[in-house]
Amino acid sequence: MDATALENEARTAIAAAADADALEELRLRYLGRKSELKLALREVRDRETGMALNAARTAIEEALAGRETELAAAAAEDGEPFDPTLPGEPLRRGSLHLLTQLRRQVEDVFLGMGYEVYDGREVETVWHNYDALNQPEAHPSRDPRDTFYFDESTLLRTHTSPSQIRAMLAQQPPVYLISPGRTYRRDALDATHTPVFHQIEGLAVDRGITLADLRGTIELFVGAIFGPRDVRMRTSFFPFTEPSVEFDVTCYLCEGSGCAVCKHSGWIEMGGAGVVDPNVFEAVGYDPEEWSGFAFGLGLDRIAFLRHGLPDLRLFWDNDLRMTRQF
Ligand code: DAH
Repeated sequence: MDATALENEARTAIAAAADADALEELRLRYLGRKSELKLALREVRDRETGMALNAARTAIEEALAGRETELAAAAAEDGEPFDPTLPGEPLRRGSLHLLTQLRRQVEDVFLGMGYEVYDGREVETVWHNYDALNQPEAHPSRDPRDTFYFDESTLLRTHTSPSQIRAMLAQQPPVYLISPGRTYRRDALDATHTPVFHQIEGLAVDRGITLADLRGTIELFVGAIFGPRDVRMRTSFFPFTEPSVEFDVTCYLCEGSGCAVCKHSGWIEMGGAGVVDPNVFEAVGYDPEEWSGFAFGLGLDRIAFLRHGLPDLRLFWDNDLRMTRQF
């Protein structure tokens, strides 16, 4: 057989192939196991014929590959034109956890008032968590049935108040800080209790600070987060403040007229606060004659829970996207 004639015939046919199927047919016809070329190669006796046939085979393979590329390029051009100005497939955007959103809002409000955000520790010493905060040795909250102890002197903090102590030990007054974070108590898990929860501590230490400054600060903060609301203070007791108060705001939902969220009182409990006890200043080496201050503590989960009317605190921990996506 004439290798050159075969090659030319194949090239012409390949160049005319209209699509991938036609090309595949030609591949079989010219290079398949039963093709003239393959049969001839099997019969080869001399070197020259062998080289000529192999050259033809290589040339046909290249022609096939070349035409295949051409056809693919043409198909791509014939298809849907690519319009880079069309909007893309929408990606589902994630969102921040409800508690993170609220924490950041509170942080923003206080940053705007010149406060710093201070990170305390979740693993605390008994001294920072209780003693330095003027908590008497016999106080029931120290009970191992209520608190997670690692050993006699180390525990998971039961509130964010020890951040006050750490911050004051690390700097001289004036101090303006909030300290958000996780806190731990040995409560059984149910709809309104979780053994891990979040608080935001606040502390302001300066010259001549009074309960009126506390009130003004709380009013500003509450207004920024919930809109205009009344704030009410009730006398209370905390070892680290004197006097101590608990403060309430008019209910976010009914605005004071009484509903299920505020249990028909018109008020929602927000947290504890007070004027820093001189014993606390003494524990950190501040002179209580020179400095005065206020402190407060908010329960973040509770506020988010009530504000959004959630039926169960455990929703914050379930990682159920149907819940988190709503906010
Ligand atoms: N640490 C208190 C608690 O967990 C809350 C609290 C009350 C914090 C009064 C304060 C404060 O800073 O002044 O119940």
